[in-house]
Amino acid sequence: MISKSSPIGVFDSGVGGISVLRVLKHDMPNENYIFFGDSINAPYGEKSETRIKEMCDNNIKFLFEHGAKAIVIACNTATSAAATYLREKYPDTIIVAMEPAVKPAVDKSETAHPHVLVLATSATIHGERLHHLIGRFSDDADINAVAAPGIVPLVEAGKEDSEEMLNYLKELLKPFRSAQDGGEGKIVDSVVLGCTHFPFAMKKIREALGYDVTFYDGAYGTSRETKRRLTEAGLLNDSSADGSIQLFSTSKETSPTALAERLLNLPFDYSPEK
Ligand code: DGL
Repeated sequence: MISKSSPIGVFDSGVGGISVLRVLKHDMPNENYIFFGDSINAPYGEKSETRIKEMCDNNIKFLFEHGAKAIVIACNTATSAAATYLREKYPDTIIVAMEPAVKPAVDKSETAHPHVLVLATSATIHGERLHHLIGRFSDDADINAVAAPGIVPLVEAGKEDSEEMLNYLKELLKPFRSAQDGGEGKIVDSVVLGCTHFPFAMKKIREALGYDVTFYDGAYGTSRETKRRLTEAGLLNDSSADGSIQLFSTSKETSPTALAERLLNLPFDYSPEK
């Protein structure tokens, strides 16, 4: 039986979901969390939709076995490929998913017709969901969507702040770097982090672009929606004590959750726009 004190189950293809978990923890510190990172199968972004659905189903079953009262799909790729399928399969469960923060990037911009760069995995970029989302705002902004498949393996390898990351991003983002900097000069106002691994590479994305931009992260909307759904269902934890966090991973490493723990403890600037 689930109750108010049951944990919120959070899953991702790997450690990216930690960027969502830290926002959830900040917004609802008294909740208990159980995090499952399927690192052994990362990246999901390069896999078929059928395979992603299968892996997500396994992740949810694991979280149910550990008594989860609600599920947060802390993965844009899994949301794009499997959220509808999972909600149909588990209609009685609260399942909250991700949405790339395109709306806030357009609505909150001070520029009349902002230039927005959406970065995500290949699966998200080519998925119907993002296509529709961008279509809703295409009259109000110039939106470029770019697949950045190289970020996830580097974050999974603990290299989120490395020269390797910077070199990869400089090449990928060449069209958006200034002409003086060897780029093609398509300067953007903001970057939407459309994959939950990407907030960990934010510093290097900014450095690779070579100028300041505002970042938008969908984790904040997901966290607000989780709180709203739990409140509505009468399942918000009313304990006044700090909740617990249990981390699980499918990684083959001897200490599979060490990376997740390190990322969770990184200094973190709580702000939907950075
Ligand atoms: N963190 C995931 C996302 O938000 C997926 C990364 C991957 O496994 O490709 O899209």
